[in-house]
Amino acid sequence: MKIAIGADHAGYVFKNAIIELLETREIEVIDFGTRNLDSVDYPVYAFKVAECVRDHEADFGILICGTGVGMAIAANKVKGIRAGVCQSIFAAKAIREHNNANIICLGSRTNTLDEVIEFVTIFLDSEFSHGERHQKRIDLITDYEEGIK
Ligand code: RB5
Repeated sequence: MKIAIGADHAGYVFKNAIIELLETREIEVIDFGTRNLDSVDYPVYAFKVAECVRDHEADFGILICGTGVGMAIAANKVKGIRAGVCQSIFAAKAIREHNNANIICLGSRTNTLDEVIEFVTIFLDSEFSHGERHQKRIDLITDYEEGIK
């Protein structure tokens, strides 16, 4: 498995800890930065990670900012991306099982590092539950995105 990861200054410290977790699990990581605590603009990193996932250069993406929300808003502008904000254990599982999220967006100001590490672990260990109702809803989003309806 290959994972693309990115963060702004608010997510930088969490990003490094998540990379350690991924490397412990022998997952290949593509790190798009940021690489220090200087203030940066989160959409820059969201687009880099989202385009990498869109182009199938990574299986999943992980984005971290203050809340996860800015990253999700930006990443979801990229065609084919389903980026879900995760601030709870329930959401970590549901965004994979129900929404088939290909990017998880996390917040360093909304959750502790331990919680975020747990969310990433649950996200990676969960699978899309190919149920008819979930697929239908994702197809509605894809059709809208494709401009069919
Ligand atoms: C940066 O201060 C903060 O606005 C950003 O990390 C994020 O929370 C945006 O959604």
